[in-house]
Amino acid sequence: MNDRGSMVTQRLAADEAGLARAAEILRDGGLVAFPTETVYGLGADATRAEAVAGIYAAKERPRFNPLIAHVDGLPAALSQGIFNATARHLAEAFWPGPLTLVVPVAPGCTVSDLARAGLDSVGLRVPSHPVARALLTAVGRPVAAPSANRSGRVSPTAADHVLGDLDGRIAAVLDGGETQVGVESTIVSCLEDKPRLLRPGGVPREAIEAAIGMKLEAKPTAGDGPLAPGMLASHYAPRAQVRLDAEEIQPGEAALLFGPAQPRGIGNALAIRNLSETGDLAEAATHLFSFLRQLDASGAQAIAVAPIPEAGLGEAINDRLARAAAER
Ligand code: TXA
Ligand code: MG
Repeated sequence: MNDRGSMVTQRLAADEAGLARAAEILRDGGLVAFPTETVYGLGADATRAEAVAGIYAAKERPRFNPLIAHVDGLPAALSQGIFNATARHLAEAFWPGPLTLVVPVAPGCTVSDLARAGLDSVGLRVPSHPVARALLTAVGRPVAAPSANRSGRVSPTAADHVLGDLDGRIAAVLDGGETQVGVESTIVSCLEDKPRLLRPGGVPREAIEAAIGMKLEAKPTAGDGPLAPGMLASHYAPRAQVRLDAEEIQPGEAALLFGPAQPRGIGNALAIRNLSETGDLAEAATHLFSFLRQLDASGAQAIAVAPIPEAGLGEAINDRLARAAAER
């Protein structure tokens, strides 16, 4: 803490010394943002409620959502949760990687009640980013980590984004450069016989359904069943309004394009970004959050977004865009 009562946030290099320092802070109950292959996470020791409470304070998250517990491999995950055959199959097929599995808590689960928001299930993920994995191994405990942005803001895909939102509120950010996938993990609930897609994300639905040879159930609608993730309608929101499926750019708007087509009125755009000139959805996911930030910074009153196909990673991209466009 400095004399004005705020903290100085350290930017740590993703080298041996930086990793050791980050692990030490986490083990002491502090907050460290770290890169994963999807987005930067805001980490805290998941086993300590007071450390986890710091996440909500730093993010100004209005209520206690369950957080994902990150571990360094399947053995650690198996000690935290109960895996049925489908969960086991999915873990073996997609971990390490951008998939979160919601499973019943194991008797020896050390993830705090607060991190689980009091549920008797736990969201587990083994990230593939080498910096994340090295950090998790060094900490030796599950690390709770939502995306490292202030509540309601766009998820961070670079250390600078994290500092823009959380400088002075967290102990450190481990700088591992830009993230690769660009959208958060796919969340699948394995609490029932049939797996359920709770949030589309970095692993396309089609890949999951092919691996298990069955269709994923739809997420429960608000009101029934266990807490559904990220259900706040307005989420991932830039300051500017977001207008979806735009075929034409209006004066005063910024343009977020996809593919080679040029919409009508493109000359009106205050700023233009193309998620992927070639129409590649994986490339588009990588750019999504940073381009939303850049277009927001142009001062445009609205961001007009070209139509994006719903296949593959398009489902996750359209999900995030729909939330960004939701009324606040
Ligand atoms: O890619 C990601 O998943 C990133 C990186 C940092 O790993 N994390 C992330 O966390 O997106 P967050 O907190 O923004 O989203 C986690 C979602 C929440 O919406 C929460 O509701 C859901 O996971 N979740 C976690 N545990 C759950 C549980 N036991 N039951 C239902 N949903 C759960
Ligand atoms: Mg988030």
